[in-house]
Order: sequence, then structure tokens, then C-alpha cells
Amino acid sequence: MTSDGRGTHLRSPVTFAGLMIRFPIAKINLGLYITEKRADGYHNLETVFMPVATVQDVLEAVPAQGETVRMHLGGLPVAGDSKDNLVWKAYELLRDRFPDVIPALDWHLHKAIPMGAGLGGGSSDGAETLLLLNEAYQLHLPEATLLELALQLGSDCPFFIYGKPCFASGRGERLEPMNLNLDAYRIEIVPSDIHVSTGKAFGMLHPRPAPFDLRQLSQVPVEDWRFTIGNDFEAPVCTMHPELARTKQQLYDRGAVYAQMSGSGSALFALFRKDIS
Ligand code: C5P
Repeated sequence: MTSDGRGTHLRSPVTFAGLMIRFPIAKINLGLYITEKRADGYHNLETVFMPVATVQDVLEAVPAQGETVRMHLGGLPVAGDSKDNLVWKAYELLRDRFPDVIPALDWHLHKAIPMGAGLGGGSSDGAETLLLLNEAYQLHLPEATLLELALQLGSDCPFFIYGKPCFASGRGERLEPMNLNLDAYRIEIVPSDIHVSTGKAFGMLHPRPAPFDLRQLSQVPVEDWRFTIGNDFEAPVCTMHPELARTKQQLYDRGAVYAQMSGSGSALFALFRKDIS
């Protein structure tokens, strides 16, 4: 899976020829530091979220025939009950608020973004559901409300409301849009069969202050990122799954300028200069 490195303007139209259809994108984390365990059980973190449209899900809502809401899943197999899916949860959140406006819908979700990979696919689906309903049913919810609702769905969801490069802190919901241009790079994503539970991965870490201020990332040449930034999840996850460390090394051997695990894993990504690869 490769992308042309463009982090902006990835958002696809909400309605396509009158259909309620969207194409949720993925994200990678450029650097990821877990800085503190919080009293509410979550962790404070610092990262840069970068949108990646190399791989996209397809999400469509169709008015239901009767009053029964259904979820139809296709593409990559999705574990668990449909009611645990963030599409369903996002729909319920808004339908509870606007019962007279939002009708019963049939949801069709085609999964292409690998799950349990640190690519934010589920979070992206949930955020896109909020955006789809807000626009299709003219709910006029302001961005601040959408961000708040997204955070109720999951820590990574608010980023997908923005969908552009952001420095993130707090649980991942304190977002500062960033100017980060990776147009000169091709982003290659390497999924693996290893499924990492986010909650379990957080439990393996020892929080510490961020060793680098990722707000300054655009000041550092990408060639130097491997000596400057990193992902706190990488060492513990690679200890459990040494094949990931080998794959990362292979990416560097192939000429990657920077390679890292995304989120809590297990997908790796690498940046290759377009002019020499
Ligand atoms: O917010 P989300 O549902 O994605 O989080 C899944 C789990 O990951 C949480 O229950 C928590 O254990 C852990 N987590 C955390 N700190 C964060 C985000 C997630 O500890 N900032």
C-alpha cells in the first residue's frame, strides 16, 4: 500500500450523485510518546497524526425499508458484534439526539483498512458516520460538537473530523493543525497479521515526558527523523513480535528515509523519497 505523501485535501465528498456515501481514510502516527497515566484510566500522549488515503473503507447509508436498522459488512472480516462497531455507535449517538430527523438506515461498511493495526480505521469510520449524518440530514452541528461526540466514540476519532495533519495531545483529542508537507515522499504501509489490543499495549508502557516536541517536527529534515523521533509502543510490541523489527529493518535496507510502527501497532509505515525510488 503506498500513498503520494499528500496529507491534505484527502476528504472525499459526502454525497456522491445523491448517495450517502463516504470513503474513510487511515492515519499514521509520526512519533508517539506516552507521557502520563491519568486518573481516568487513559494516558496522556503526544503525537502527530498524518492522514493517509492509500487505503480507504467505503461507508454507505441507505434509508431502511421498515424501522429495523441493519449493518452489512464486507471486505476484510470484522470481529465482534455489529453493535460494537463505531459506525453503529455514532449513528445511535446522533439518532438519540435527533430522533425525528434521522430515520432508520441500512449501513453498508466495506472494510479495507486493516484492523488492530494502529491505522485508525474504526475511528475513521465512526467520525465519517457523524460527518455523513450531519451533512445529509442538515443537523448543523458545529465542528466543536462533532469533536466532542467523536471523543465519546474513541480517543482517535476527533482527528478524523479534521482529517489533516495535526499535533495531538491529551488522549489524542487536543488537536493543533500543522503544516507538514510530505509531497516529496511516498508513504508505504506494511500491515501484518499480528493483532495488537490497544488497551493491552498501553498497559505494557512506562510513561515518561516526551523526549522531543513534535510540534517542531516540520523543522527537522525527514532524513533525520530516525535519530530524533520514535514510537513508545515499538520496543515492547517488537519484543513480543520480533518479526516486526526485522520488517522495519528491511524497509530501511530498501532505502526508506524513515520507518516506524503506527499507533499501538502492528502496521509499519515507511517514507521513501519519490525522486530516488
Ligand atoms: O479511546 P479508545 O476506545 O480508542 O481506547 C481504547 C483503550 O486504549 C482504552 O480503554 C485505554 O485502555 C487505552 N487508551 C489509553 N490512553 C489513550 C487512548 C487509549 O490508555 N490516550
